[in-house]
Amino acid sequence: MMKIVSIAGARPQFIKAAPVSATLRQQFNEILVHTGQHYDHGMSAVFFEELGIPEPDYNLGIGSGPHGQQTGQMLAAIEAVLQQEKPDWLLVYGDTNSTLAGALAAAKLHIPIAHIEAGLRSFNRTMPEEINRVLTDHCARLLFCPTQTAVDNLAAEGIHRGVHLVGDVMVDALYYFLPKAAHSPILSQHHLTPGEYVLATIHRASNTDTAEALAQVLACLAQSQWPVLWPIHPRTAAALQRFSLTPPPTVRLIPPVGYLEMLALEKNARFILTDSGGVQKEAYIFAVPCLTLREDTEWVETVAQGWNVLVGTEEEKVREALARPRPDTLPPQLFGDGAAAAHIAQHLLTSST
Ligand code: UD1
Ligand code: UDP
Repeated sequence: MMKIVSIAGARPQFIKAAPVSATLRQQFNEILVHTGQHYDHGMSAVFFEELGIPEPDYNLGIGSGPHGQQTGQMLAAIEAVLQQEKPDWLLVYGDTNSTLAGALAAAKLHIPIAHIEAGLRSFNRTMPEEINRVLTDHCARLLFCPTQTAVDNLAAEGIHRGVHLVGDVMVDALYYFLPKAAHSPILSQHHLTPGEYVLATIHRASNTDTAEALAQVLACLAQSQWPVLWPIHPRTAAALQRFSLTPPPTVRLIPPVGYLEMLALEKNARFILTDSGGVQKEAYIFAVPCLTLREDTEWVETVAQGWNVLVGTEEEKVREALARPRPDTLPPQLFGDGAAAAHIAQHLLTSST
């Protein structure tokens, strides 16, 4: 049986791994490696518990640190795993430091790489994730794209071979887990009425690394006339404390929530304010208008369809976007039909024979 080593380390990668691991394990010997990039219970274990993700075969326990140190330690530790396991494929997800470390380790050992969520570009090279994406794509043998835009981005960089449009595995996860999310008591726990609150998430380096940027984010959140629930990423919680910043009184901070709770909160929100990649897409699928607190996005389709607005961190743009009527038509299905994991497994099988 063909052996695949999969690398996951950060919250969105656990969510993506849920449908993919379940599918791969029907036909392959999958070895799951957790780099330890995220390690708090609410950033890691909660997803394994709630989503039934298989226990990692290796937990590298790398933890937090500056980019070079974190990525370098992962690179060395993943190399050791690959030398031990000698897999047929190395599978990585998305654009984090765990993704790049996995890709580099495999490339040096001549192990073919499959990249899920290939081809995304913000065209902003100051964003650490953009470097991770570009380098990973240029090392990969199989490139699984969620959108036609991603396929086109790769073509523009001269990458044509091994590129497959398979849809988005986050859609697989969303459809699969939504029925379970319907039972979540999270709205009533926080006394929220469907359609009468705003959901916020913020964790990008560009929004959290300076006091000025983070203060501007808070000023944007203060524009909402509805109560704002903000499950706060540990990076952002630490930054608020470091800069002695206090959120406006209409904003309620809560610890990060599990995926089922998050789906329930997203689905019922009036608006979503975020700088997350995954959350922009989930807002679109739920037809909840999204304000993205960034200057650019990889998920350009959501903006083109009118369901997402790039507001930067300008209060005026936030106010305008919160006053906009909803688009007239429902968002078309642009991220696949929920069978991306099955398409990926099929391509892995046929590419290996
Ligand atoms: C990382 C990814 C980002 C992804 C995000 C998903 C990189 C460069 N960034 O950003 O692409 O969108 O994950 O959430 O790979 N921390 C904790 N507990 C944890 C994890 C982090 O306290 O369990 C704190 C630490 O102070 C750490 C900081 O958060 O220094 C940042 O964590 P890190 O994984 O480096 O980056 P993220 O901002 O989480
Ligand atoms: N998410 C979650 N709990 C939270 C915040 C986010 O389960 O408190 C989920 C969210 O629904 C999405 C994913 O985490 O599926 C997005 O991860 P994140 O925003 O950390 O990273 P990004 O997508 O920006 O890389």
